[in-house]
Amino acid sequence: MLAGLSACVVSPSHREHAPLDQQRVSAFADTVNGKTVKLFTLRNKSGMAVEISNYGATLVSIHVPDQKGQDGNVLLGYDDIKGYYNGKSYFGCVVGRYANRIAKGAFELEGKQYQLPQNDGLNSLHGGVNSIDKQVWDARIMNDAIRLTTVMKDGDNGYPGNVKLTVVYSLRADNRLVIDYSATTDKTTVLNISNHAYFNLTGDPSNTILNHEININADAFTPVDSTLIPTGELKKVAGSAFDFLSFKKIGKDIDQEEQQLVFGKGYDHNFVLNANDGMSPVVEVVEKNSGRKMEVYTTQPGIQFYTGNFLNGSEKGRGVAYQYRSGFCLETQQFPDAPNQSNFPSAVLKPGEAWKSQTAYKFSVLK
Ligand code: GLA
Repeated sequence: MLAGLSACVVSPSHREHAPLDQQRVSAFADTVNGKTVKLFTLRNKSGMAVEISNYGATLVSIHVPDQKGQDGNVLLGYDDIKGYYNGKSYFGCVVGRYANRIAKGAFELEGKQYQLPQNDGLNSLHGGVNSIDKQVWDARIMNDAIRLTTVMKDGDNGYPGNVKLTVVYSLRADNRLVIDYSATTDKTTVLNISNHAYFNLTGDPSNTILNHEININADAFTPVDSTLIPTGELKKVAGSAFDFLSFKKIGKDIDQEEQQLVFGKGYDHNFVLNANDGMSPVVEVVEKNSGRKMEVYTTQPGIQFYTGNFLNGSEKGRGVAYQYRSGFCLETQQFPDAPNQSNFPSAVLKPGEAWKSQTAYKFSVLK
């Protein structure tokens, strides 16, 4: 049973949680290992609506008006819950226990060696196999929010410690989707939790994202080896293809014959954010045809800018086969492979500590 669901009766006419479409609610309803899988909706008075599944704590759609007031979904996703069971691209889900990569799936912590599943060549990616993105979370409906909780058990995917993880999605009146993460552990562990939403601000995922303009407030990024593990260097972006210090089209330099872009098949890199107080945007993206703008706020030190380079038409939804570079991700995070890189901010969580982070995606239109 989903904790809190039965205690909290929400009439379908309650505007803040009214479904967008009853057929979709059915397409996303299921029972997995005795747990209810359900589609939740958050709406605000400014025309935004967000669909969330408690399977993988997944953002299923984000509806936001364009400059002409026309509604559009800016998220890549599948058309039913089975798509998410089989999905390989991490559409919209929460990733952990360690988002992004750990080299060779191995690390040492307090003198002990840990071995994780190697599910990305020799490396471990996004917490391993059947991680939290493939689990049914407990859900509780709140006023303007959905609160999702799960437990990552001691030894799951090779990681130490029982970790209690809570993710709260709130939709604010000013078109901010706020994600509050919090976690505790009973043994020292490593933790990196992110959301893996793919955006396409045109509202039509048959378009590529190459004409979106992006501004990333990061003077440096972390270059990678050919397996996308950081080399440890913090490299200045100024003057390079990685320089997004002022607005630049995603497509402008993406096909440069540059080793980092060749390794990533495009951008698939962690940017070292200049500020992470959560108060000013770390990234701004604009798409001029729709007039949509998205700002990202975070308290995390890094952000993975990934341009959908592994999409190849094999995953389908919304009437399209998602093509190469038809969505981009801005995954706020600790740095990839931090458990093996002593010069990166620590991603260690100890018993007695309360880990918290906040990320917000704020939508508006160009004036
Ligand atoms: C992350 C990684 C990418 C890719 C996607 C999932 O963003 O950095 O390399 O693995 O997840 O396809």
